[in-house]
Amino acid sequence: MIFDNLLWEITDNILTITINRADKLNSLNGFTILDIQAAFIEAKKTENLKGIIVTGAGEKAFVAGADISEFQQLDMIHAKALAQRGHDIFFSIEHMHIPVIAVVNGFALGGGCELSMACHMRIATQNAKFGQPEVNLGIIAGYGGTQRLVQYIGKAKALELHLTADMIDAQTALNLGLVNYVEENKDAAIVKAKEIINKISTKGPTAIAKAIECVNAYYKEGVDGFAYEVTAFSELFKGDDVKEGVSAFLEKRKPEFKGK
Ligand code: COA
Repeated sequence: MIFDNLLWEITDNILTITINRADKLNSLNGFTILDIQAAFIEAKKTENLKGIIVTGAGEKAFVAGADISEFQQLDMIHAKALAQRGHDIFFSIEHMHIPVIAVVNGFALGGGCELSMACHMRIATQNAKFGQPEVNLGIIAGYGGTQRLVQYIGKAKALELHLTADMIDAQTALNLGLVNYVEENKDAAIVKAKEIINKISTKGPTAIAKAIECVNAYYKEGVDGFAYEVTAFSELFKGDDVKEGVSAFLEKRKPEFKGK
């Protein structure tokens, strides 16, 4: 697949999407956000993908936020459309049926921090910096950041980051629970991400999709996550994966899941 602002590469059934505007620190202009949307629509249709890695081109930034130059022309109506579109795209990332891991290789600010938070896990490089600096511009996060940051690090620290616009380093992000792992550099972080995706790919694919759905259900307003889990658990018994997984255990062999 060819995109103007992204690199799309599949190796060993793992898709790597690289935001590719290094000269602008991979900031998300309108075209880039549409490319991200198109890439995830395409990924959903691609058979046999084990998982997706999202990262930024170059060594300096994952994504340094929305493209600030585009804010000059915004009025209320267009600002609402912009935020809603970002919300929809990031929601679809969060609800992918296969694991999506952000390899955060430098600045993850504003929309960049928000993009990383829409992914299921985050692996940071030592030089990564996270922050929600929107108040410096007189705005607030608009791609789900006020909600997801609280989910990961709790209200007190989320408010501190949103209100002070301070950046935190990778180790602090790890201590706060925002990232899963910190690795020396981008290559090591990619290796770690692939290791995790490969491990997950040995499990029952329908169960993986249901586990993602159920964890997301915890955060859905008006949804009883416990009831959601009961239904999801029972639905798995419609398919073949559970028969294969249980038989393989009892027969002391490795399961061969078909994803059904
Ligand atoms: N939107 C548009 N352009 C951006 C950008 C953004 N969010 N972040 C960086 N850039 C551009 C810069 O304008 C610069 O472009 P230029 O070379 O044409 O002047 C280029 O990327 C390099 O950035 P620069 O500021 O020179 O790098 P730096 O190392 O001095 O600083 C940052 C890095 C991340 C601290 C700084 O770029 C920054 O504060 N960016 C904005 C972060 C932000 O507020 N994000 C939330 C937006 S809602």
